Amino acid sequence: MSTLTEKGIKIDLQTSQDDKEALSQIKEKSVIYDTKNLDLWYGNSHALKNINLEILENEVTAIIGPSGCGKSTYIKTLNRMVELVPGVSTSGSISYKNKNILDKSIKVEDLRTQVGMVFQKPNPFPKSIYENIVYGPRIHGIKKKAILDEIVEKSLRGAAIWDEVKDRLHQNAYGLSGGQQQRICIARCLAVEPDVILMDEPTSALDPISTLKIEELMKELKKQYTIIIVTHNMQQAARISDKTVFMLNGEVVEFSETDQLFSNPSDKRTEDYITGRFG
Ligand SMILES: Nc1ncnc2c1ncn2[C@@H]1O[C@H](COP(=O)(O)OP(=O)(O)OP(=O)(O)O)[C@@H](O)[C@H]1O
Ligand SMILES: [Mg+2]
Repeated sequence: MSTLTEKGIKIDLQTSQDDKEALSQIKEKSVIYDTKNLDLWYGNSHALKNINLEILENEVTAIIGPSGCGKSTYIKTLNRMVELVPGVSTSGSISYKNKNILDKSIKVEDLRTQVGMVFQKPNPFPKSIYENIVYGPRIHGIKKKAILDEIVEKSLRGAAIWDEVKDRLHQNAYGLSGGQQQRICIARCLAVEPDVILMDEPTSALDPISTLKIEELMKELKKQYTIIIVTHNMQQAARISDKTVFMLNGEVVEFSETDQLFSNPSDKRTEDYITGRFG
């Protein structure tokens, strides 16, 4: 006897263990963000042009491309931060878990609980490390100290910084190094248990050791989260991502498996960019 999965794949119901594993992987990798015909204007300036992208769950998707091509603009559409810019208009759709988030009836607060963001410059609050982490959970109404303590430890461990800060949780986060502050920001993001983490050049201000720590962290995090990262560092994209998007002048030129994009790009403009011929 056979049946069809949600994705229309025909399977034999008497599946072996291997088949089951293969199937669970298919299931794991469903589309979380589906961008269709997205255009965005800052006033009259056409910053994103007919973007079509399907981003899969539990993958790391890297976005590369020269300065000004629209990487930050695109990533900020995914949590609707871009709408804070006066004069922005969009057309097309971005569905997140099958709901069009550009639809104004979608509550932005709900979306941002599910989609966290880490910025280029570490931006901890001028508060203690502990208060930075519990900020989001407190907004969500968690008051019990024991639970908050647990969230703090779990988030800091998740961001690979617990051992470095466990004895100074009540000191100001500003007293940490840049790389540590960035990991505090990642921990703050994890504390609200998002599904997606957007990162806009999260390591560009960091030294190679902190960068490596954050890269290792991303490999760990993708088991539980979907990560979309903008980076100017092509080696970084190659090291950490499953898929890579190459953008140019507001358009997606190429979107493929990372290995393929870097070893055998299908578009001449991608090849020129990754070989350093422009940009
Ligand atoms: N708030 C804004 N108002 C008007 N135009 C903007 C705004 N933000 C970005 N732009 C323009 O939109 C285009 C894309 O900018 P964006 O910041 O997305 O580029 P980017 O690829 O992230 O570049 P970089 O690598 O330098 O960070 C650029 O031409 C930029 O000048
Ligand atoms: Mg940018």
